[in-house]
This record gives sequence, structure tokens and C-alpha cells, in this order.
Amino acid sequence: MVSIPLPLPLEDSWSDVLGKAMRGAGLDPAKLASMTGLAATRLDAILSGEKPEENVLRTLAAALGLRPGPFVELAGGRVHPGPLDAARWPDVHQIPSRYGDMIVNAWLLGDPASREAIFFDAGADADAARDTAAAHRLAPSLLCVTHTHGDHIEALPELVRAFHLRVVAPKGEPLEDALLAEEGAEFAVGALRARAQLTDGHSRGHLAWVVTGHPAWPGPVVAVGDAIFAGSMGGGQISYARLREHLHRKLLALPSETLLCPGHGPATTVAQELKHNPFA
Ligand SMILES: [Fe+2]
Repeated sequence: MVSIPLPLPLEDSWSDVLGKAMRGAGLDPAKLASMTGLAATRLDAILSGEKPEENVLRTLAAALGLRPGPFVELAGGRVHPGPLDAARWPDVHQIPSRYGDMIVNAWLLGDPASREAIFFDAGADADAARDTAAAHRLAPSLLCVTHTHGDHIEALPELVRAFHLRVVAPKGEPLEDALLAEEGAEFAVGALRARAQLTDGHSRGHLAWVVTGHPAWPGPVVAVGDAIFAGSMGGGQISYARLREHLHRKLLALPSETLLCPGHGPATTVAQELKHNPFA
């Protein structure tokens, strides 16, 4: 197994964000060209990745309902939240793994007193997950699933066998032998409490898991799956509008000192995303 260095790069570039916002708003290049007054050939070049000057980035952002300042910053490469601060957020462990050409995160959150722990998603590498639990002397007993896309649950059967886990899946995306959770469902492991928040839009039943109860954390820790990423958001395949509304009403409304642990890319905070996320 080749380990994956942390922090991971941002999941999405400015041009990925542009594509997501266009698909979300249901705009094709011809429509966007006419809304922005950009020549079709110019827009084609931009959509193929040629970074335009700042005023054009601002025009595109305004047409797509993105925040122009953060979009310009993202294009300038200035929004990485940096490495996860382990002193500030003890017992939060990121477990990246490769799934095809993607990197997906599982997360392991531990209770410092009992050493019991909860996995959030399984990722694609059960060995990496087992190694992480062993390295930190944690005994996982529960696995909460954010959504059931293959990259997030590839290693699930193996982890269940290894740790005899209880598994909780979203009610909108049932899994065999799993308890099903909907908005507000809560599970306790040691001092930790994980509460489900419906954040559908990327997938039909997507849940974010808000975890509290660790004595040292300055705020909640949220396993956000593919709802929000550092500097971006998950694709709104089911409903872009609903997903963006969930970001505003549920995730970014949490205390600014909330740690967001996404399914892809680096960990971030509510404060960082309110400042830097073009979709916030
Ligand atoms: Fe996904």
C-alpha cells in the first residue's frame, strides 16, 4: 500500500467549479455566452481550462450565482485551508484511499477516555482504516455512512468483518443489514454523539453527521460526505438547488469553529468556507 500524503490538494479547480455551477444552473455554453456577452470562441477556451483575467472571472461568477471574490481567489490558488491542526482537533483522523483515479476520505473519530471510535464512510482501503485505528489505539464500534456512492462504501464489508461494526446508512439510501437514519437521528459511542442532518442533492438521501461530545474540540466536527468540499461543493446530480440550500441553512450555519470533514480533499472549517467558498 502506498500512503497518500496529507494535506490533500483541493478537490476542485476554478474550472471544475465553473462546470458544476453551469450544470447546476442548467446553462449551456451558448446561454452563458449570451448572458455574459463573451464571444462563443472565448468561452470555449475558458471552458477548456484557459484561465481568463479577473474581470471575466467576476462576470462569469455573477452570471452563475457564485461569489465573485472567492471564485477569483480560487483561480489564483489562494484558498487551501492548510493541514488539519491535530492539536486543535485531537482524535480526528483522515483516512484517504484511492478509488480508480479518485482519492476518497474515510474519517475516524475517537473518544479519548474510552478509546471507542466511529468511522464515517469506509473509503476504499480497509487496511489503511485498520492501520489508522491501530496506530491511535482506537476501537471502532460504529460506522455512519454519508451516502452510498461506491467510492464511499467500497471497504465497508471488510471493515464490518474486522471490527464487528454497527452500520448506520441514510434512510434514503438503504444498505443491507444497516440501521437506517433520517434527519435528527442520534447515535452515541463513548462520549461522542453523532447526529444526522439531511443534506440531499448530491445523492438522494445524503446525510451529514454532526459530532459533538469530545472534551477538547472547540466546536462540532462534521462528516459532510460530498455535500461541501474545501473551496467547492459536491455535484448536485439530484438537486443542485436543494444542496446549495442545505449548505446555507444547515452546514454553514453551524458555529464558525466547526471542523468540516469532506469525502474528498482536505478538512476545512465553517469560518474558512464562509470566507473562501464560491458556493457559500
Ligand atoms: Fe458521492
